[in-house]
Amino acid sequence: MDDETRRFVTTFRSFLEDVVHQADPGGDPGGEPLLPVLEQHLGVPPRTLPVVGERVSTQRFTDADVALELLAERHGGRRLIGIGGGQQRRHSSLAEIIEFAGRRQFPVGPVDYARVPTGPEASRQVVTFGLHLFTYDGVPVAVLQRAPQPHFGREHPDLEVLAPVDEVVPALLDELRRLMAEHSVLRGQVVTFTPSEFGASNGNVTFLPRPGLSADDVVLPDGVLAKVERHLTGVARHRDALAAAGQHLKRGILLFGPPGTGKTHTVKYLMAVSPGTTVIVLTGQSLRLIQAAAETARALEPAVVVLEDCDLIAEDRSLTAGPQPLLFEALDALDGLADDADVAFVLTTNRADLLEPALAQRPGRVDLAAEIPLPDVGARRRLNRLYARDLPFTPPALDAAADRAEGTTASFAKELMRRAVLTAADAGHPPGDEDLSTALDELLGDTEMLTRSLLGADSDAGSGRHHEDVSRFTTPRSR
Ligand SMILES: Nc1ncnc2c1ncn2[C@@H]1O[C@H](COP(=O)(O)OP(=O)(O)O)[C@@H](O)[C@H]1O
Ligand SMILES: [Mg+2]
Repeated sequence: MDDETRRFVTTFRSFLEDVVHQADPGGDPGGEPLLPVLEQHLGVPPRTLPVVGERVSTQRFTDADVALELLAERHGGRRLIGIGGGQQRRHSSLAEIIEFAGRRQFPVGPVDYARVPTGPEASRQVVTFGLHLFTYDGVPVAVLQRAPQPHFGREHPDLEVLAPVDEVVPALLDELRRLMAEHSVLRGQVVTFTPSEFGASNGNVTFLPRPGLSADDVVLPDGVLAKVERHLTGVARHRDALAAAGQHLKRGILLFGPPGTGKTHTVKYLMAVSPGTTVIVLTGQSLRLIQAAAETARALEPAVVVLEDCDLIAEDRSLTAGPQPLLFEALDALDGLADDADVAFVLTTNRADLLEPALAQRPGRVDLAAEIPLPDVGARRRLNRLYARDLPFTPPALDAAADRAEGTTASFAKELMRRAVLTAADAGHPPGDEDLSTALDELLGDTEMLTRSLLGADSDAGSGRHHEDVSRFTTPRSR
């Protein structure tokens, strides 16, 4: 079943339920009627009041839950009730619920909850359908909180506010937004947004543990890692001085180079050295959620938005932005942030040549482009030592292997060690220099061409030919 069919089926099913319900009003669920409860709280008939809706992005729904609870507690008289009446309440707006409540008798019912993650190892029970009754600045208010219900055509969470004094509503919503940012469960976390099955602009949050990498774990040409790190964290450190001098804080970093050379690895290192910074990682389909990510980053600064393998969207046209390739949308999102936003975009790509035209058309978005090249012989030697770690290979054997592995990637070094251990295990002895050499022969042999290419190495690896096919940001290849 595709999304559309599924949506139709659920709508049709609840339509049938309604028909049955209407044919047999005796099947009324009963319970305390909602309307009098609302009227008693608000002091006026609820039907006379306008409902103010506030849309929250799916990724911030938990924040809205936290903020509403705080708000209600802070201002006092908090009561949380549910609304009964079967599926009909899910189709209905708060205004409709109130409108129909007289006729159809929506009763007070249990509050709906769901447990959602709030960290790599933490979770929280949030209200997915519930009506908050409390007093705001002395005015009784009601706020209906509901999670997205894609099956009922509601792709975003909604808050609906009912108050007998109009002026309190903007004040309430302002404070709510402030509390959402202040107490956000995303703040200081590493998260990815994953698109949900319904709606391209919708998505869920997955929390990731912050990687623990040190500079010694990342083997790059001299100065590259320091330069990238300085650009990312230096700006944050000198935030006040830059702001005072009228210099912008937001920044864009492009990491480009062949696959398997450590672009993602570098990003992980950057996460490790910026504790407390909110990191939002978008990759593949979730690159569509760029707008939500940019807004969230702005609210939770200091923040980093990582667009992994963004060449994948260089020509992808999003549904929402018309003929604009998604990459432009991403770059515009960066541009749309205020200059004083402490937000960095980190883009990674294997195909700088594909990105360059877009970046050239949107100048100023990316202010540091760093090449992550194939490792040279010195780097390969360091990589072999890094990944041999406690394995009993001798330094000369490791270096000899590095010398022979011309044209291979950093991830190749890792695979080489694994192969050497496997080779030794196959032969039934502890790993030694012989196994390293055998494994290298195998991996460099013609039969392993695909493996090498999967590891990101070039097909002429080991031939000793100079490697020229590195996409250079400055010299785009034709496609
Ligand atoms: N420069 C590097 N230094 C150390 N290890 C690396 C490096 N590049 C890659 N690796 C290892 O290879 C794995 C795959 O590399 P990755 O960063 O995903 O490559 P890329 O994103 O450039 O395609 C990494 O998880 C890491 O273990
Ligand atoms: Mg990568």
